[in-house]
Amino acid sequence: MTNQSKIVEALRGKPQATPPLWMMRQAGRYLPEYLAERENIPDFMEFCFNADVTTKVTLQPIRRFDFDAAIIFSDILTIPHLLGQTVRFEKGHGPILQKVSWSDFVDASIDKDLGTKYQPLFQSIQNVRAALSAEKALIGFAGSPWTIGTYMIGCGKSRDFSPIIDFAEKEAPIFNRLLDLLTNQVIQLLLGQIQAGCDVVQIFDSWASVVPKQNRRQWLWNPLEKIYKALKKVYPEVPIIYYGKGVSLDYPALISELPGLCFGLDQSVDVSWARESIQKFAPVQGNLDPEKLVSGDFKKDLAHILETLGQGPFVFNLGHGILPQTPIAHVYQMIEQVRFS
Ligand code: CP3
Repeated sequence: MTNQSKIVEALRGKPQATPPLWMMRQAGRYLPEYLAERENIPDFMEFCFNADVTTKVTLQPIRRFDFDAAIIFSDILTIPHLLGQTVRFEKGHGPILQKVSWSDFVDASIDKDLGTKYQPLFQSIQNVRAALSAEKALIGFAGSPWTIGTYMIGCGKSRDFSPIIDFAEKEAPIFNRLLDLLTNQVIQLLLGQIQAGCDVVQIFDSWASVVPKQNRRQWLWNPLEKIYKALKKVYPEVPIIYYGKGVSLDYPALISELPGLCFGLDQSVDVSWARESIQKFAPVQGNLDPEKLVSGDFKKDLAHILETLGQGPFVFNLGHGILPQTPIAHVYQMIEQVRFS
């Protein structure tokens, strides 16, 4: 059975009278009901693998805001964690990943099947899909191999990416094997999510823009193409959204190579340019600045986005994840403007 929600329709290329909307990171720390659940399970990875709690928090923003899609609660760092590079989260620090020896790690991880370990996630997808009405979509996701790799090699969130780029260049054989194995894990994970009931998948490539131009083919676009082809072969009707932060100028070249791929726009993208260069050929999603949602000064920007992209295949979203300090009242105002202006 294929999903007929407004989001799926838009992502299949059909403009909608009112743009469907959801927000990246919509289940998260700006919501008191999310924070309350987190208090009961302080270990974030344990939280991610508890099917009851992830079912609950995935549905929280739908119940509160009636968004057009739920995104399954998990994290892009579950892959390294399950492969054996332990991930910890400390307050105010972001993720901290264990130091490992890369050649041993790659040898030990290359053929690992994480299917059993992902059962709680798949269970949660089944629960959420059963709880959602037919007009809502359920979105699955994974990080891109590159973005996951930056956290793995940097043992957390990097400020300076030059050591990672150095590693990728100087230790090319190991790095390429790591990217390859992450590509395969992302494929298995997304196939499993669709099989469990996701209607759409999104690939988060939050650190795409730090890749030098001459390395993008090998580190970004080849892995993306492999993922796209593997998913399209089994589930040709399931839309795939690629969210590459800071690399929208590369999107036009991808359109002909990966037909049907949908593009997430970050807040730096000029929407008039996006309409002419991307949306005429592929569905787009985006791109209100999350900082503006914090300040509340977003009415003009939002109107401009809707005016410019609203006639074509379009899903309204933020340009990046919602920030924890965002006032909830602003989220209600944003939704009101998208739906009723
Ligand atoms: O969108 C959703 O609501 C679904 C859940 C989701 C989370 N992370 C939950 C989460 C999704 C889609 C992600 C993606 C993710 N995770 C990305 C890509 C998107 C982006 O924002 O760039 C990245 C880079 C990560 C890695 C990650 N996970 C980081 C850097 C952090 C720490 C952030 C910080 O400021 O401390 C996380 C933790 C995380 N993932 C939280 C949530 C709700 C907060 C953890 C908490 O509750 O304490």
